[in-house]
Amino acid sequence: MHTQQVGQHGRRPRWWRGAVGYEVYVRSFADTDDDGIGDLPGVRGRLSYLADLGVDVVWLTPVTPSPQRDHGYDVADYLGVEPAYGTLDDLQDVLDTAHGLGLRVLMDLVPNHTSDLHPWFLDACSGRDADHRDFYVWRDPAPDGGPPNNWVSHFGGPAWTFHAPTGQYYMHLFLPEQPDLNWAEPRVWDAFDDILTTWFERGVDGVRIDVAHSLVEDPQFRDNPLLDTPPQGSGGTGSVFDRFAHIHDLDQPGVVDIYRRWRRIADAHDAVLLGEVYVLDPTKLQRYVADDALHSAFAFDAIKVSWDAWEIRTTLGPYVAACDDRLSWPLSSHDDPHAAQRFGGGEVGARRALAYLTLLCALPGVPFLYQGDELGLDDAVLPDGVAEDPIAVRLGVRGRDPQRSPMPWDDGPALGFTTGTPWLPVGSNRTATDTVVAQQQTPGSHLDATTSLLSLRRRLPALTGDAPLEWVVEEGPVVAVTRGDEVLVALHVGDGEGDARLVLPEEARLLYATDPAAFLVEGELTLPEDVAVIVALDPVADPETAPEADPAPDGDIEEVP
Ligand code: GLC
Repeated sequence: MHTQQVGQHGRRPRWWRGAVGYEVYVRSFADTDDDGIGDLPGVRGRLSYLADLGVDVVWLTPVTPSPQRDHGYDVADYLGVEPAYGTLDDLQDVLDTAHGLGLRVLMDLVPNHTSDLHPWFLDACSGRDADHRDFYVWRDPAPDGGPPNNWVSHFGGPAWTFHAPTGQYYMHLFLPEQPDLNWAEPRVWDAFDDILTTWFERGVDGVRIDVAHSLVEDPQFRDNPLLDTPPQGSGGTGSVFDRFAHIHDLDQPGVVDIYRRWRRIADAHDAVLLGEVYVLDPTKLQRYVADDALHSAFAFDAIKVSWDAWEIRTTLGPYVAACDDRLSWPLSSHDDPHAAQRFGGGEVGARRALAYLTLLCALPGVPFLYQGDELGLDDAVLPDGVAEDPIAVRLGVRGRDPQRSPMPWDDGPALGFTTGTPWLPVGSNRTATDTVVAQQQTPGSHLDATTSLLSLRRRLPALTGDAPLEWVVEEGPVVAVTRGDEVLVALHVGDGEGDARLVLPEEARLLYATDPAAFLVEGELTLPEDVAVIVALDPVADPETAPEADPAPDGDIEEVP
């Protein structure tokens, strides 16, 4: 049993503290113009749904103009809006409506690479002395005419493409249509200062930074060593990328300097920097999150753990120890299977996903749901041959399409997502009972239970504040933490052995259970498998008697001594 101090340091906007996040995959959220593609008016129309659900921060996947080779993660203009999604005015409407509902909005910023159709890259290709040549990473061929080193792309194939007209290779850690920006070039830094400032001045509340660990490369461009055994969970595609130790192309010294500069811009606008830092090592991740660097980074190991108590405990604990409350906890994402899918699929998977979310809600930092998590959705079953995701196309694997299928709203055509033909099928496993409307009408539905959970979390200062965290059960199938002396959150990671029993103080009161079969009588808690509970250990922690915290005033940055 060890106690972890929480929130001992840290400057951040008040509105970020204790928040719950929600990722909107804009392309698949809600379509209003019948083209089968989600859009910004669709997002705006559903913001009150998100406010009612009880989330505080909405992260929008990229809405900037893009040829959509990687569905927006190939940006052709950092300051515009993709016409398929709407206009700048539509985005402003989203921001204004969100703010009116007390929600904050994070945009997705993609600083590692642009589209090959970005004007900078078009110019860079026009000649070796082009004005923007150095905005990208160019190298001469190796002596045999091949690529300059052995680096490979996340999406398969070499990380280098030869540009015959100028006789050099350019680097791309993703698609050839996603050339990497050169962060050794000071004008790239200046360009992004302007981009961030513009977005923040438009009222955007922060950015989720795409592949934030990836911007800087080894100045000598040394080969990456081949691994004897690819690590578990290193990226998930099983591709050639996983066969290398990425010691020269990822997580390089110097990358955090970029965020130090951005932090000053963000703080001046009460905005938040949230990194997609795909570094599965808490002590390495720690370097990215600091008072003068990122406010928060996703702990992606939370999305990698299997349904195993020991693994959950030993994986999550070190992240809290290293990064305190500067973490965001993804339940799922557009890059990973839904939690319900990962934990077994169907009813069992959904039950476990809700129980796991309950645990994430007890950890310091910001839990993030991905659209559909609140409905307990697992991934869509798509017809053979559907392959929109470049990973599916290039590597011939399942890819990320199943978790990106349209959001099921009601029992209308395409389950209420569009009256046109959806860009991805809704999935043959989706039924009318999966939809938002059906679940809104069903007491005890996954949506109902998620809404109650988020509402309770908001009313429990022990979970959203500085109360120290203690991992109170060290062995067996129950993962349990306390926050201060006030609240206990316990999760029974089913092992086939039936109910678990925990002895608690006699005055303990059950505040929330993911399944009504859990009960607490005279200090003895009975916890069925795959169920989580929130318990007030001290009557003072009972929100029945505690008032709901006031929303933080605008522009208030909190400094915790
Ligand atoms: C991030 C995004 C992913 C995208 C990749 C390249 O990992 O989340 O969807 O394909 O970056 O931009």
